[in-house]
Amino acid sequence: MSEDIILATDDLTKEFAGFVAVNGVTLRVKRGSIHALIGPNGAGKTTCFNLLTKFLQPTRGKITFNGNDITGLAPADIAQLGLVRSFQISAVFPHLTLRENVRVALQRKRGGSFDFWRSKNVLSEFDDRAMSLLEGVGLKQYSHLTAVELPYGRKRALELATTIALDPEMLLLDEPTAGMGHEDIDRVAALIKSVSANRTVLMVEHNLNVVATLSDTITVLTRGRVLAEGDYKTVSNHPEVKEAYMGVGHA
Ligand SMILES: Nc1ncnc2c1ncn2[C@@H]1O[C@H](COP(=O)(O)OP(=O)(O)O)[C@@H](O)[C@H]1O
Ligand SMILES: [Mg+2]
Repeated sequence: MSEDIILATDDLTKEFAGFVAVNGVTLRVKRGSIHALIGPNGAGKTTCFNLLTKFLQPTRGKITFNGNDITGLAPADIAQLGLVRSFQISAVFPHLTLRENVRVALQRKRGGSFDFWRSKNVLSEFDDRAMSLLEGVGLKQYSHLTAVELPYGRKRALELATTIALDPEMLLLDEPTAGMGHEDIDRVAALIKSVSANRTVLMVEHNLNVVATLSDTITVLTRGRVLAEGDYKTVSNHPEVKEAYMGVGHA
């Protein structure tokens, strides 16, 4: 087999008191791709994410990241390996400014002692990088505001900036454009595209325009199972997908 798979699941299953939220899901995420997980509400997308980042322990099944079995690892271990979920970074501090928030994430990525951070050169280097990340998510003009002052959509954008600051090998994004207006959606979609250049992205996304524009591969879940998989054209022409998903609800 020649394909380079960064993340794989086999028979991933999660039951809640007898209710099967995720049912025998087998995923293959190609390194360097943008892979979307879509499906109607209650399909099991968020539960899948929680399993992948180890916030939930699977009832059965296996998760492999970069060829290593990570099924038994803790969330912090997973992040350490380079698999980071956007909300997982509790690095959004409500009373720090946006610039400080991104700078903290950059410093976390870099590691090192506190003395090191007092160096003026290092701080201004981080400031420049922080501003460019904020610009990328459309928050440059708000850099001096505290995170708590932001409306919801812009908080998500900040979350994305701090996640990218951590420079993970693979990013998991749960509805990155949720709560955003059109302009912000376009900007965040462009940003996801640009950060995917040298990493892998797996995202849950409701906005099908974003999915169609960004995704190399789409997996459609319904009732915890994989219903269809492929590129946007393949998936959107799938009769059962049309019936179960495209036809109802989401525009
Ligand atoms: N902790 C839980 N306990 C019981 N049922 C849950 C729990 N989390 C999710 N579920 C159920 O599992 C199903 C899938 O939920 P979820 O993964 O959030 O779906 P999605 O993100 O696709 O909307 C839903 O029916 C939901 O009610
Ligand atoms: Mg969800």
